[in-house]
Amino acid sequence: MSASSPRPARPWPTPGLSFGGDYNPEQWPSEVWREDLDLMVEAGVNIVTLGVFSWATVERRPGEFDWAATDEIVGLLHERGIRIDMATPTAAPPPWLHALHPEILPRDRDLIPQFPGARLGWCPSSPVFRDHSLRVTRELAQRYAPHPAVAMWHVSNELGGGNGRCYCEVSAAAFRDWLRRRYASVDVLNHTWGTAFWGHIYSDFDEVNPPRGSEAQNPALVLDFDRFSSDELLGQLLAERDVIREADPDAIVTTNFMVGPAHDVVDYPRWAAEVDVVANDHYTLPTDPLTAQDIAFSGDRMRNLAPEKGPWLLMEHSTSHGTWHPVNRAKAPRELIRNSLGHIARGADGALFFQWRSSPSGAEQYFPGMVPHSGTDSKIWRETVELGQLLGRIGEIAGTTVPRARVALLFDDIAGWALTRGLKPRHGLDYGRIPRAWHRAFWERNIPVDVVGPWADLAGYEVVVVPTLLLVSDADAANIASVVDRGGCVLVTHLSGIVDENDRVRLGGFPGAFRELLGASSEEFFPLRDGETVLLDTGWLATEWTELMREDPAAEVVAHYAAGPLRGRPAVTRNPRNGGSAWYVSASIDRLGIDAVVARLIAENALRPILESPEVEAVRRSGDGRSYLFLLNHSDRDVEVPVGGRELVTGIAGAAVTVPAGEVRIVREGERTGTRES
Ligand code: GAL
Repeated sequence: MSASSPRPARPWPTPGLSFGGDYNPEQWPSEVWREDLDLMVEAGVNIVTLGVFSWATVERRPGEFDWAATDEIVGLLHERGIRIDMATPTAAPPPWLHALHPEILPRDRDLIPQFPGARLGWCPSSPVFRDHSLRVTRELAQRYAPHPAVAMWHVSNELGGGNGRCYCEVSAAAFRDWLRRRYASVDVLNHTWGTAFWGHIYSDFDEVNPPRGSEAQNPALVLDFDRFSSDELLGQLLAERDVIREADPDAIVTTNFMVGPAHDVVDYPRWAAEVDVVANDHYTLPTDPLTAQDIAFSGDRMRNLAPEKGPWLLMEHSTSHGTWHPVNRAKAPRELIRNSLGHIARGADGALFFQWRSSPSGAEQYFPGMVPHSGTDSKIWRETVELGQLLGRIGEIAGTTVPRARVALLFDDIAGWALTRGLKPRHGLDYGRIPRAWHRAFWERNIPVDVVGPWADLAGYEVVVVPTLLLVSDADAANIASVVDRGGCVLVTHLSGIVDENDRVRLGGFPGAFRELLGASSEEFFPLRDGETVLLDTGWLATEWTELMREDPAAEVVAHYAAGPLRGRPAVTRNPRNGGSAWYVSASIDRLGIDAVVARLIAENALRPILESPEVEAVRRSGDGRSYLFLLNHSDRDVEVPVGGRELVTGIAGAAVTVPAGEVRIVREGERTGTRES
């Protein structure tokens, strides 16, 4: 194998935009590989993720490695100019490892062990698994790091997806060590967790257990166990990364995050700092009525996990329906292309899929690949080829970024854990729902939003939305308040600022962290039953949650409760302060209410949309003097957009562009020649 290729200026595995998917050739006889490669070239694939589930193939028995098939496929890909995102196979421990060491299987909160046969069947704290996983990683890295086709390293697969929390004895011991490091003394732990409640005062760290069994646990313990679990998984990422870097100090290392509608397993902002390329797997939910907004929301978050690293990578999404839900919606014609470009519009420098070819067998045998079961005479294949060829033509977009927005929406996994776990006045609270409801109101108006952590530098934002951010530290609360003190606007919703970073309730009225800022407060929660609604005097409806707000707040009252036990009390307030304003929305208000409030935020803060169009989603990427306007038409009618420049899908330049129903157009702004580019 020859010496490694020169390191690119920015850590990115391909020139231009990346396009491809998970490639699992071990599922196929080698005759199929050659057809695969021809088809990849036809579709413009420039990178594949290789070997995610290959451990049992490359190490059939303990210590017996056979790399012949991998060598061959790596060579074939290289010959065709297709780069490799080489995955460590540690998401899929081989059956012999579970037979030898059943103790590595994660245990649930009732200490029931997971059965072998799924994925990520390992406890993140297991030293036995760590040794085996680093052994195979080392063999792989030493063998393939020098290969010129290997452009990136992919640690494991969706770390935490299946082993996000393990409650076994090994985890318990590791948790106690983690607590010793965090608190040093058990008295500090007792004080911080408030263990006097129910008489849970510990005299030694060894008495602490993971939050097993009942849901009725000390929330501070549960939260620390969540933090610990995220750290243990991060430990695996770092250990594998470092083994790869021993083999190649310049290796570009990534792992696929699960920033999407259904996952809340690890604390990604802290993980993003540790990888060279921030990558995401995104699967829309079949129950989601607004999947395009879900794509926008996750992209608005992804690019802000580590903005200094520039573009992120869409590592996996689907060509059509999934198989994990009771009913799995297929993508309508053109949706595959629109979805991919939706991610790219929001800062992804590539779109990859799971997986290259649909498998005829195995648990995901009905999951459509880029080459579906029906073969190349199919909608999926034709759209895959069209997309790949288009991405090849628009490679000039790579490296540009989505400019910083004027609106920030605060989102924090840890606050989400505090919101969704344990006993609450209302159970089943979903952290994603309210942030998305507020994001939607901006998204529908094409007003850009950055989804950032509450610790982010908020200096450039004029409007900061704080939706159901239950947990907030004093420092982050001060960071948020500073937006108003320099003349900006903050909107805080119910279930925000209730607890500090140790999940301890802030006393004196809700939301404790923001009372002063808001000039208003609540004294008691009034959760609503499923299906119950409460009318506000503005005509808006509250569902799920209301609060008994104190009368006569310093703030102006925008809406009162108009019915029920809270009738006449404030529901929504606005506090003018230091030239800025601070809103409090004490109830989960409906779409009408959110739209009305957002319309006021837009007017009061002179926010301007990228484009005024109810049908077309408009997003801009720019950099190095270039600017690209993505126009995604989610409707079933053609729309003309008055924007000048060269449109890159059709190659035509002009003063306006027609975006046909269901299609995407990308305008390189600033060119008005009326010519066609070859
Ligand atoms: C992802 C996973 C892939 C595949 C895909 C489709 O979460 O990383 O390996 O399972 O989902 O279900």
